[in-house]
Amino acid sequence: MYTLNLDIAQFLKEHWQQKPVVIKGAFPDFEDPISADELAGLACEEEITSRIVVTQKDNWEVIQGPFEDYDSYGETHWQLLVQAVNHWYPDSQPLVEAFRFLPDWRFDDLMVSFATPSGGVGPHVDNYDVFIIQGEGERRWTVGANTPQQRRGGNPNSPLVEDFEPIIDVVLEKGDVLYIPPGYPHCGETLTLALSYSIGYRAPSQQELASEVADYLLDNNLGQQRFTSATEPANPGVISQDHQLGIMSLLSQLAQDPTSYQVVLGKLLSQNRFELDICEGEEAYNAEDLQDAFEQGAGVNRIGGLKVLRLENDTQSRLFINGEIYELPNTPEAVLTQLSDLVSFDSDSAMALCEHAEVQALLLQLINQGLYYLSDDEA
Ligand code: SIN
Ligand code: CO
Repeated sequence: MYTLNLDIAQFLKEHWQQKPVVIKGAFPDFEDPISADELAGLACEEEITSRIVVTQKDNWEVIQGPFEDYDSYGETHWQLLVQAVNHWYPDSQPLVEAFRFLPDWRFDDLMVSFATPSGGVGPHVDNYDVFIIQGEGERRWTVGANTPQQRRGGNPNSPLVEDFEPIIDVVLEKGDVLYIPPGYPHCGETLTLALSYSIGYRAPSQQELASEVADYLLDNNLGQQRFTSATEPANPGVISQDHQLGIMSLLSQLAQDPTSYQVVLGKLLSQNRFELDICEGEEAYNAEDLQDAFEQGAGVNRIGGLKVLRLENDTQSRLFINGEIYELPNTPEAVLTQLSDLVSFDSDSAMALCEHAEVQALLLQLINQGLYYLSDDEA
């Protein structure tokens, strides 16, 4: 278990989404949840997103995974970065749990990096919030002010920015955490062989929202209403202010109707950017198999990274899971809350859930879809 040594209320008030902060000793007695060898093994898998960044003088070369071996990279000046480790490596979930004081819908993934001395991805700006947790080894981090940054070498396509004046310059050691909100340039430089963990958060852009709204309207054959007016402008070549506002209000009407926007948000925010480790069994379970498994002490777990979300004041009783709606009209809200908050259930809690026929059918469906799995842990 990982317990964050942090005044969360104060952090949320003073830093979250506002300004960077170094939290020295955030995890006293931190232990790496994964070893460098295990991480290197994950980066050999086709489904897992990984990259190696090689630092040469003032140049950074990126090589996309999967990787077969690492011999050619040598002892220094490179870094391996593996995305969504929480999807593939269940032992990393306890570290993610330490950050669930923030809502699951914002959470993007746990990225793990293995860096050799002088390795680093270079100075850059992210459009997401990130907590960087230092495991084994030491890395020096600089963070600049949240001001417009020049792209490196004047190249507008470069992911890197020019060197910046640091407002933070710190060496992170085991158990230290650096929080960086979107927009602050930062750069990590590796001092000794290091493992570090980035817990990243994202919010949807207007583009993503608009595209989800369009999908919703098309899928449900909605949004056929057209603009009508009571007055017309005197000049034929003009789109009057009244008409501009009237047409745009067709869009804002959608945004004010919870029966529309709740579906859009539930589906959009429960999706994952990285592939999930779907664990479909060869044969489908039936309700009796499930009951037997629980009676013999099995529990039930979500696969890593799966988002199970509930909307406050939802117009319907349902859960949004991985971009889909699961209707549960007869399930008490407290049970929906358990399902959305807890990533695993021991056998007793699973049996209690199954007293609700609808929830039993849901668990069965999710297990057969490979989104939940039975765990052998004795309760
Ligand atoms: C790194 O670990 O070097 C990359 C993390 C980041 O800058 O967001
Ligand atoms: Co970054």
